[in-house]
Amino acid sequence: MKKIVTLSFATLLAISGVMTSQASEAPANVEATTETQAETAIAEASKAEAKKEAIPEDSAQVKKLIAMYPQLVARIAPVGKVCFDGEECDINITVLAPAVEGVARPGDQLYNAICATCHDAGLVGAPKTGTADWAPRIAKGKATLYDHAINGFNAMPARGGADISDDEVKNAVDYIISQSQ
Ligand code: HEC
Repeated sequence: MKKIVTLSFATLLAISGVMTSQASEAPANVEATTETQAETAIAEASKAEAKKEAIPEDSAQVKKLIAMYPQLVARIAPVGKVCFDGEECDINITVLAPAVEGVARPGDQLYNAICATCHDAGLVGAPKTGTADWAPRIAKGKATLYDHAINGFNAMPARGGADISDDEVKNAVDYIISQSQ
């Protein structure tokens, strides 16, 4: 996206450069046209200037958002995926079947759609599913793990940051444990 803006800025500069040189080389007897051309060149130049100002450095807020990106991806995981204009969608997220009132979705589906974002790769220090990372966690007892998964625990977001029921969180925890023993 930024690349495109930079390109068109360069193009504008090039155009206004050509116009300015045409203006200065033009003979005196076409003064009226020259003036118009010069005015256009000035207008183009100031447009280019405005464009230049429109690309500020990322603010502290934006930098924070970028740092939070993995969490944001996790949050929208159950409802969609992240794509950028004009680019292939580089992040594939398993889409979760919609919730049905009173029916808890199975742990493997919930895990793949929500928890895998962090627990497959060990993102932000998450214990990796299917590894010994889980031994000390399992030793805490299921009640504690359920509680921490439902209410959050340090960098572990409550319910994995998703809008799922307590029973669904428990199904996902059971699935992690079954894969990690
Ligand atoms: C944004 C990343 C992220 C997502 C998404 C995520 N987790 Fe976690 N999870 C973590 C991190 C980081 C920890 C380690 C926290 C710590 O021990 O300080 C953790 C720890 C846990 C623990 C262990 C808690 C304890 O007491 O040791 C459980 C259980 C857990 N996650 C379950 C889940 C389940 C179930 C899901 C999906 C519904 C999920 N997590 C989604 C990051 C995530």
